[in-house]
Amino acid sequence: MSLVSGPGRAGVGTMPAEMQLFVDKHVRYIQSLDTRKDELEYWLTEHLRLNGLYWGLTALHLLGHPNALPRNEILNFVCSCLHDNGGFGAAPGHDAHMLYTVSAVQILATLDAFAEFEERVKDGRQKVGQFIADLQDPETGTFAGDEWGERDTRFLYGALNALSLMRLLDLVDVEKAVQHVHSCANFDGGYGTSPGAESHSGQVFTCVGALSIAGRLDLVDQERLGAWLSERQLKNGGLNGRPEKKEDVCYSWWVMSSMAMLNKLHWIDGEKLTQFILQCQDPERGGLADRPGDMVDVFHTVFGIAGLSLLKYPGLEEVDPV
Ligand code: FPP
Ligand code: ZN
Repeated sequence: MSLVSGPGRAGVGTMPAEMQLFVDKHVRYIQSLDTRKDELEYWLTEHLRLNGLYWGLTALHLLGHPNALPRNEILNFVCSCLHDNGGFGAAPGHDAHMLYTVSAVQILATLDAFAEFEERVKDGRQKVGQFIADLQDPETGTFAGDEWGERDTRFLYGALNALSLMRLLDLVDVEKAVQHVHSCANFDGGYGTSPGAESHSGQVFTCVGALSIAGRLDLVDQERLGAWLSERQLKNGGLNGRPEKKEDVCYSWWVMSSMAMLNKLHWIDGEKLTQFILQCQDPERGGLADRPGDMVDVFHTVFGIAGLSLLKYPGLEEVDPV
């Protein structure tokens, strides 16, 4: 996920109360996340710190407040998570893993900071690219998350995304990765974590995203998958991740970004989904929850706001679905 165009100012004044996005509340909520070091929750989420920073920063950019977190402190923190092997951990002292490395690269791309990263770390881009490339399985084309070897289409998407942001896709066998994704396609048009695994909207996002980066969306059964994705919308307007499951605001991103890549956003009732997402806001303390009335968190905050951006909520920055 990245931004497409210039700054906007969302939710200003003109909307009826039930359609209001509480922009300033969300900005303050995200700013507050790093100042709660005396709270247990802060330390319980340490294993997600770098991901959380990416989610918070992206939400701020979408909300039109890109400078609401201190840029230099972000860069210092990102660099403090780097290992000698080119991988990033979730926080200083945590093991390197694909998912944190992808978040680090996404943060550097969002801040347009690859040149500064190179000034701080000699051959930094190349080292990070090599860490990612070394996690490709030469037999199957898929990727592991770390040296311990769990494999999943999330890691494959993350690898292609980060490498394409760094213009280093030629470090890996893209064609083999594409064929692996194709082998994960199911009869319902969706994709799972690995060949034969159940279709899940999160995995659909990773597989369609990987094929989009590789320029191979021609391999997707677009009508069948578009239909399966549109069936994710429930009566209350929210989307679920697979049949028979509950709605959850984060699928506003996983489902809708996949539909955007297939040019099928109009197969969803956008007004009902917009209302559902807005109902997930905490109007007092800011942030969005998975569903109305639940506790907010930064993960559901960014993916709800990104869903609103795809739905063209007024004043939000335009998000790139890949
Ligand atoms: C819950 O599964 C899982 C999610 C809400 C996340 C789904 C998103 C992905 C797999 C894509 C992640 C992408 C990257 C790049 C890391 P569940 O089975 O607990 O939830 P369910 O009951 O809604 O199906
Ligand atoms: Zn969720």
